[in-house]
Amino acid sequence: MKVQLYDTHAHLDDRKIFPELEDVLQRAREAGVNLINTVGCDWRSSLMSVRIAEKHPDQVRAIIGVHPSEIRDWNEELLARLMDLTSSPFVVGWGEIGLDYHYEDGPPHDQQRRVFRAQIAAAKEAGLPIIIHDRDAHQDTIDILKQEKAGVNGGILHCFSGSWEMAKECLRLGFHISFAGPLTYANAKTSVDVAGKVPEDMLLIETDCPYLTPHPMRGKINEPARVSYTAAKLAEIRGLDYERIAEITTNNAKRLFKL
Ligand code: NI
Repeated sequence: MKVQLYDTHAHLDDRKIFPELEDVLQRAREAGVNLINTVGCDWRSSLMSVRIAEKHPDQVRAIIGVHPSEIRDWNEELLARLMDLTSSPFVVGWGEIGLDYHYEDGPPHDQQRRVFRAQIAAAKEAGLPIIIHDRDAHQDTIDILKQEKAGVNGGILHCFSGSWEMAKECLRLGFHISFAGPLTYANAKTSVDVAGKVPEDMLLIETDCPYLTPHPMRGKINEPARVSYTAAKLAEIRGLDYERIAEITTNNAKRLFKL
């Protein structure tokens, strides 16, 4: 059987990708990447994600939500519009949401926490898994996921770069762990260690394209076809065939997103 890969986190609406979308999706198919989640960061990209999925129903699904760095104009009306989007059969998750304490000029942390909780509640109401962005905010992220019982519909710690301790906490809460291009980088010791330990049924892969291009393609724009490099690295780490890791990660994603 032909190898099938699922890129669980891409930004197909990004201006580095969208103008070439048809070619990008074709190259993905040629690499066996037959399923892709395109992920929103704000209202506009959430809406575009749904449109892209509607136009490519065989290959693309949409994740909608507002990224912690994009919450400055958050309000109840925006939440209601996002909720409306979830009625589309192509919306399979809510994200990417979470906390980003990396940038000093980013939105205030208390506002980030409040909006994170609001989007978790909305995702629960919509019955959707959540896709978590956590940058330099590990403890607050874990605390909120616990307090809000955020794992009821499952979810993903996307582009995971934390420790095994952190991974264990997330797994206990019912979250999958997804690895992106940085797993292939020479300095990825911690991630490689974690990727070797995550239970097989909780492993996922993604590109987060156009960012985080895997080795040896670094310097080029990332795209879903290149999730194959991360799959190959994961296979090497786990001592499994490429075909087997493709099967495992694709089945895990299909189960989580109910495809
Ligand atoms: Ni992303």
